[in-house]
Amino acid sequence: MTQNHPALDRAHEHAARWLEGLDTRAVNATATLEQMRARLGVPLEEHGTDPVQIVDDLAAATEGGLLGSPSGRFFAWVIGGTLQSALAADWLTSAWDQNAGLFATSPASAVAEEVAGAWLLDLLELPRDASFAFVTGCQMAHVTALAAAREGVLRDAGWNATQDGLFGAPRIRVLANATRHDSVDRALRFLGIGERALIEIPTDGDGRVTEASLRSTLEADSGPTIVVLAAGDLNTGVFDSFRTLIPIAKAAGAWVHVDGAFGLMARASKSKRHMLDGVDLADSWAADAHKWLNVPYDSGVAIVRDREAHYNAMTVHASYLEASHEVRDEIDYNPEFSRRARGFALYAALRELGREGLSTLIDRCCAHCHAIVTGIGALPGAEMLWEPELDQGLVRFLDPRPGATDADHDARTDAVITAINATGEAFFAGVTWNGRRAMRVSVVNWRTNETDVARTIAATQRAIAELAR
Ligand SMILES: Cc1ncc(COP(=O)(O)O)c(C=O)c1O
Repeated sequence: MTQNHPALDRAHEHAARWLEGLDTRAVNATATLEQMRARLGVPLEEHGTDPVQIVDDLAAATEGGLLGSPSGRFFAWVIGGTLQSALAADWLTSAWDQNAGLFATSPASAVAEEVAGAWLLDLLELPRDASFAFVTGCQMAHVTALAAAREGVLRDAGWNATQDGLFGAPRIRVLANATRHDSVDRALRFLGIGERALIEIPTDGDGRVTEASLRSTLEADSGPTIVVLAAGDLNTGVFDSFRTLIPIAKAAGAWVHVDGAFGLMARASKSKRHMLDGVDLADSWAADAHKWLNVPYDSGVAIVRDREAHYNAMTVHASYLEASHEVRDEIDYNPEFSRRARGFALYAALRELGREGLSTLIDRCCAHCHAIVTGIGALPGAEMLWEPELDQGLVRFLDPRPGATDADHDARTDAVITAINATGEAFFAGVTWNGRRAMRVSVVNWRTNETDVARTIAATQRAIAELAR
């Protein structure tokens, strides 16, 4: 307990209560929009409010408006939890309040990032001399890595993108599969490459780019080319065949970028590593740390083989910035200027887990995902659409009426998802997969355990029964 920081003590109490309540509180939001607006929408007063009061008010006002996404029974989107050391390091990061733009503004942060970056390259078996940047999430990892890609492919075409921009530059084409994450498209918008530069590579029904489709898409045109492959399809978690595809793309002179938001971390698992065979042949990789590495939000990583292209795309020259060749200044690789010292949480998570811990965390999540999907798939009125090989699986729910159509099954699937979420026991989201509505099951949270799996299947069974009445 501190004497001079009562608001911090109070915040700690609220935080501990929140974490300890994750197993018992509703996973869904139970407060209405009107309630949230009424509670939070207080007038901004002329004079300030006591910090302890603010912390208490915030905890009271947000009650029911926070999702239990850090709990072990949240399976929507791809959302991880927070390891204890990572959360603690994140608190310290806020208290230390460092500007992690330069070594000069926070030597400890710069070195923690240097060390954590080297650990990650080692764990993921990526080129040890690759450059990296700790960014806010996979979206900004795409922006960072694809800015380096833009720099690299245009440099090879005799054009200096840093100096001359894109007006008059050779046109870049970007080849990516149809089920790619939308953050790739948005990164291309941010970078001035534009969504129209995207050419979709046909995939097989499971979401994998095939050798023939990559070849024919590459051969259809020429010029500076970026190929985006997936380390973990959004819906099925499957990986592209890197060992086969990357050499084909490289032979055509392309820069290969890998979206590994969640899946890249599977390379740290001894039993899953083979699924990513050859991923190290790519030129850049984007991943999240707030997913499978279970650090708090605001944590992604961009990794680039061509350090020079990365550096040229990001570095800043200003007379008031102290540059040194001996140290790693984050600003040389990151898109931000001032930035949070987000490397501390990542450093802490990697130490808490260790190599073995990360490997077993990944395997455990995959096993729980498999148990949930097969368990739900075996319930009357449910059907498994994708049996997980990794952390992602798909099920749907069938309308029991005779003559029910696909549209009826789609409506039933959405209704069951809503009914499960309303129980507060578990939380899922829907997706349209190969033309059908499905419930996506994603497990990347260290907290999920056998009890959560059993509670989730039971809640699903109750929701199906409830709808049948
Ligand atoms: C495959 C994939 N790529 C990119 C992203 C974007 O990541 P972020 O939300 O961290 O920016 C996600 C997020 O779910 C994802 O699943």
